Amino acid sequence: MQTLTDTRVDALDSEARRILRLNDRGGYTVPTDGLYPYQWNWDSAFAALGFAAFDADRAWTELETLMAGQWQNGMLPHIQFHQEDAGYFPGPGVWGTEGAPGKGAGRVASSGITQPPVAASFALRTYAKDGAAGQDRLRALFPRLMKLHRWFMDSRAESGAIAIVHPWESGRDNAPDWDSAMAAFEPEGVEPYTRRDTGHVDPRMRPTKADYDRYIWLVQFGRDTDWDDAAFAERSPFRVADPTMTFTLMRASRDLVGIARILDEPTEEIEGWIARLEAGAETLWNEKTGCYDSRNLRTGELSGCVSNASFLGWWGGLRQGQPTETLHRVLADARYAVPSFDPADPRFDSLRYWRGPVWGVMNMMVSTGLHEAGLTDEAERIRRDTVALIDQNGFAEYFDPQDGTPAGGGTFTWTAAIWLGWASPTAQER
Ligand code: GLC
Repeated sequence: MQTLTDTRVDALDSEARRILRLNDRGGYTVPTDGLYPYQWNWDSAFAALGFAAFDADRAWTELETLMAGQWQNGMLPHIQFHQEDAGYFPGPGVWGTEGAPGKGAGRVASSGITQPPVAASFALRTYAKDGAAGQDRLRALFPRLMKLHRWFMDSRAESGAIAIVHPWESGRDNAPDWDSAMAAFEPEGVEPYTRRDTGHVDPRMRPTKADYDRYIWLVQFGRDTDWDDAAFAERSPFRVADPTMTFTLMRASRDLVGIARILDEPTEEIEGWIARLEAGAETLWNEKTGCYDSRNLRTGELSGCVSNASFLGWWGGLRQGQPTETLHRVLADARYAVPSFDPADPRFDSLRYWRGPVWGVMNMMVSTGLHEAGLTDEAERIRRDTVALIDQNGFAEYFDPQDGTPAGGGTFTWTAAIWLGWASPTAQER
């Protein structure tokens, strides 16, 4: 790869800042105009990582708006619907969370499911950029972050690893990880609906109708049970322990310990969560594939998937028994790392969403974890690939791992954010 000139780096840095401003809706950032017109949970936390590189005040605001949408029971919804937008399906009416006991009164309209909990990680990062000036804002966020992590441990951690109740919770919406659990039930009684996503981007880059029917069926299940955690745990056909959730929560909990120390708060409870998550992560290890996998909690089966989430253990803070060999094989098989799914697997699809393409946010977490663990060559390879993808193809939602083709939405918030907070040579200098 060629090294970028200073002028080129300046241009990319300034384009990334422009994208964050462009997608700023006043206090919160949309992932991209059109396709995703609301505030998404982990996208927003990543946006804070990007803002922290040049405007710490705005980064805090992003995290504050995000955490203000927290439900009374501690759950942080995957989408907050700050204003109506007919261009998106399923909107607030389909989710029907208004009046759900777990939500509580007076909160912003939202979905009824969550997403990977990276907020504490980027709150700590924002503090690192802002020093003592941010201490009050960090202190105000702390109880909400504690409540969020506690909710995960109370309602999703029965196997030690963290379970998802809907594929969208994992953030890896249509990964092959969920195929068998999704095929195990019939989406009977799904009300008629019109998709909006395929009006914004090429259907070849989006999930299929069979998947979509089941996504909506699960939303209806939640609505019919009033978004009750116990109903999901007892009766939903879909419950899968997910490495993305498990390792992001593990990392965020370590970062929460860091926050607690800064604020002089007790850390025992958080340390207990970390120990449980570490034990839980072992249940996700797949001997056959030599990496972390997802496990269907209804059947006990591992899914047999090598994905980019398989390499998040380092980000989670684990050092022993990590999937180094499998990582080396996947890196050798992909022109651009890290493919969201194993290129050697017949289910690999280079353009279809989470079944092959490269995502900058996953690269940031995998690479940062590798770097911290001392695997600097692998970490640098992933960062250089990310730089090349963005330099050659722009700030797209995701990229084809074989030829770099940009896919999904354009001018994407979290791609710009990881550029500013991690991939850019200027981020490395900072
Ligand atoms: C897609 C992604 C999800 C992301 C959302 C907004 O649904 O799968 O991870 O949060 O888009 O960017």
